Amino acid sequence: MKDLTPSRESLDPIEIASTDEIRALQLERMKWSVRHAYTNVPMYKERFEAAGVHPDDLQTLADLAKFPFTYKNDLRDNYPFGLFAVPREQIMRLHASSGTTGKPTVVGYTRNDIDMWANMVARSMRASGTKPGDIAHIAYGYGLFTGGLGAHYGAERLGCSVVPVSGGMTERQITLIQDFKPTTIMVTPSYMLNILEQYQKAGLDPRESSLQVGIFGAEPWTNAMRAEVEEAFDMHAVDIYGLSEILGPGVANECVETKDGLHIWEDHFYPEIIDPETGEVLPDGEMGELVFTTITKEGLPMIRYRTRDLTRLLPGTARTMRRMEKITGRSDDMIILRGVNVFPTQIEEQVLAIPELAPHFQITLSRDGRMDKMAVMVEAMPDAASEDARTASSKILSKKIKDVVGVSTQITVGTPGTVERSEGKARRVVDNRPKGE
Ligand code: DLL
Repeated sequence: MKDLTPSRESLDPIEIASTDEIRALQLERMKWSVRHAYTNVPMYKERFEAAGVHPDDLQTLADLAKFPFTYKNDLRDNYPFGLFAVPREQIMRLHASSGTTGKPTVVGYTRNDIDMWANMVARSMRASGTKPGDIAHIAYGYGLFTGGLGAHYGAERLGCSVVPVSGGMTERQITLIQDFKPTTIMVTPSYMLNILEQYQKAGLDPRESSLQVGIFGAEPWTNAMRAEVEEAFDMHAVDIYGLSEILGPGVANECVETKDGLHIWEDHFYPEIIDPETGEVLPDGEMGELVFTTITKEGLPMIRYRTRDLTRLLPGTARTMRRMEKITGRSDDMIILRGVNVFPTQIEEQVLAIPELAPHFQITLSRDGRMDKMAVMVEAMPDAASEDARTASSKILSKKIKDVVGVSTQITVGTPGTVERSEGKARRVVDNRPKGE
């Protein structure tokens, strides 16, 4: 793999400023943001008053802990535009999550917000090893999802030639990669595996492709998956994180020279880790729920937004700003199976540790009497797909999951092609347990 480390001169000075400088900037911006939310969004005014706090009470960064949390349901309850802090005419763009239940969550951006977003994605891409003049193939979905357009504006801002493919039509993705020769691809990690499979089906060697870096996010993925994709394509695989409520892609990104967790762009987003049960702020280094406060956003300021994502904060390495560890999962994806907490990423690690298994899997939960049961559907690699080989891999996987994760599962190793393929965010868990109990 090529060394893609960006030069220090190409970075934004704040990325490598001193911690004191970053903290001072954050405090100044946070004071503005908390006051902006209080003055312009009725919900924040009511919440702050009910909690007995006022923007004047924010004198240090630690004072933020006095302020109440904001939840996804607050966006639903104020659907569609009730949390916007500027007149609707100043909102230049709307995005929304499809939402599996109930109303979608709607987010809005002013001209300055769109500008900041483009800068943050450009910064993320530069950290990933993309350079001005590179061709960027964008296979995140375009539309109401923030992935496609978020990546697109950032890639343009960095100075790339942008190929706005969006998700789907996998054969065409391969043709475009082969013909246009992009060096960067931006796509969900699960869809990248689908693209890899198409390469193999077409009899093409992915290591011969022009790709040098993949910027993967929008869903959890493991270091085992990184190793798999890096080896298959002879390219760097780096992690990009974000969520619509806070921005979209570009809240945090790994640096290609270290790949040791995601640097949070703290000049715009202030992170906290809390105990999800008690809401108490935890010290850096401890695992808990990630909470974000936007400190420059105009259209939709978010004060102490509960992401439900589980991670820990770590000190900066390649940049001064703090890192978050690769996300283990979301508190609402966590499966509690007979008292043991299980994340789909733990299953992914075990599947990827067995060379006879393909990296595609799906978990199904069901209830048998009063017992919850977990079944894992995986599939064999084409050269290990005989019945005997599949039975053998199924035993190995079952034992690994039992030994490492601590739960008994029913494993089915299917022939190649039996597991649903992703074109965006993968559906890792199908929950067939009766609802409302
Ligand atoms: O997924 C924004 C995005 C697009 C990020 C493209 C990166 C690349 P939402 O659809 O609002 O926004 O979903 C946000 O996805 O709270 C996490 O649970 C999950 N997620 C996003 N990035 C990562 C990541 C976009 N790198 C939710 N690792 C977040 C793990 C991620 N989970």
